[in-house]
Amino acid sequence: MAADTRPVLYIRDSASLAPLWRDAAQNGLPQFDVQIGRSNLDLDRVTAALVWKPAPGFLASLPNLKLVVSVGAGVDHIVMSDPDFPRHVPLVRMVDPGLTQGMIDFVVWACLSILRKAKFFANEQLAKRWEAKPIETSPNKTIAVLGLGQIGLPVARMLKKLGFQVIGWSRRYKKVEDLHLVHGSDELKALVGRADMVVNLLPSTRDTYQIMGTEFFSSMKKGAAIINAGRGATVDENALLEALSSGQLSEAYLDVFQVEPLPSEHAFWIHPKITITPHIAAITHPKSGIRALKRALAEIEANKPLSNLVDWNAGY
Ligand code: NDP
Ligand code: OXD
Repeated sequence: MAADTRPVLYIRDSASLAPLWRDAAQNGLPQFDVQIGRSNLDLDRVTAALVWKPAPGFLASLPNLKLVVSVGAGVDHIVMSDPDFPRHVPLVRMVDPGLTQGMIDFVVWACLSILRKAKFFANEQLAKRWEAKPIETSPNKTIAVLGLGQIGLPVARMLKKLGFQVIGWSRRYKKVEDLHLVHGSDELKALVGRADMVVNLLPSTRDTYQIMGTEFFSSMKKGAAIINAGRGATVDENALLEALSSGQLSEAYLDVFQVEPLPSEHAFWIHPKITITPHIAAITHPKSGIRALKRALAEIEANKPLSNLVDWNAGY
């Protein structure tokens, strides 16, 4: 059999999704020899890589690499974990309507669960206890959305549509009709002090590291709640435990953690005020992931500026 001389598309995501990635890539990009994983990989033939968390130094060992696409919208696991990343190769992050929709669904679920005291009533049911509790409605609740990017802004819009009061926060100035938006670190404390729920959709960068810590939690309204689906590194986990134990915060919905998978001995697992999901708020489906890769390849081919290129200085 003649040797395959096609360029190689290297894909590395979770093992359980490997067959779906292979199918989607073979159907969508027949010009590539699709390689999942590193065994027998011909390093010289790899021209494109689609990766979640590549081993540090691995991408630098591919001499003909022209494009790296992150399987995730967040790129901290590449930007902060691979000091040898070949910076001359463009790094594109995942932007996909399916990913955004997944996050809208997740945040709406969490906010409505908090509003409707879902955890409390679930426990009441277990105890077979019939006790009415007053429930407020969405227009009486203010939600702060931290991060107004491809995901945060549509989330903020949906929460507003549901009737909540919404305030959004970003790094740079933004104006969007019908939304109250503020920007920059000076605005953060005041914003947080007004919120009944804070939804974090920030990327993990040098600037957002443990942005939610003791000071942040004590600036929040007493009894407010947080939802973190951005990144675990943005939360000081001990400070969060303290804020929950003291009653300063009422609840936390957490999808992302400092260490993932969350270690079995971690205090979060059995905390009565914490709801945990295993980083599934929004997931990139292989078909749409391959569409994003195709778009980037077409832009390179047409000599156009790449969409969703990572800004190494900002870190996202
Ligand atoms: P974007 O890059 O489109 O948006 C990031 C937003 O964060 C921007 O509004 C940006 O401000 C803001 N931001 C960044 N740094 C700061 C800062 N220092 N102060 C204030 N605002 C800041 O990213 P996405 O919306 O696509 O994704 C956001 C994050 O969501 C990802 O990085 C990832 O960590 C997380 N995520 C989690 C998933 C999950 O399943 N849990 C799934 C998908 C994403 P500006 O607009 O001014 O640039
Ligand atoms: C992402 C993620 O960044 O899954 O897309 O967290």
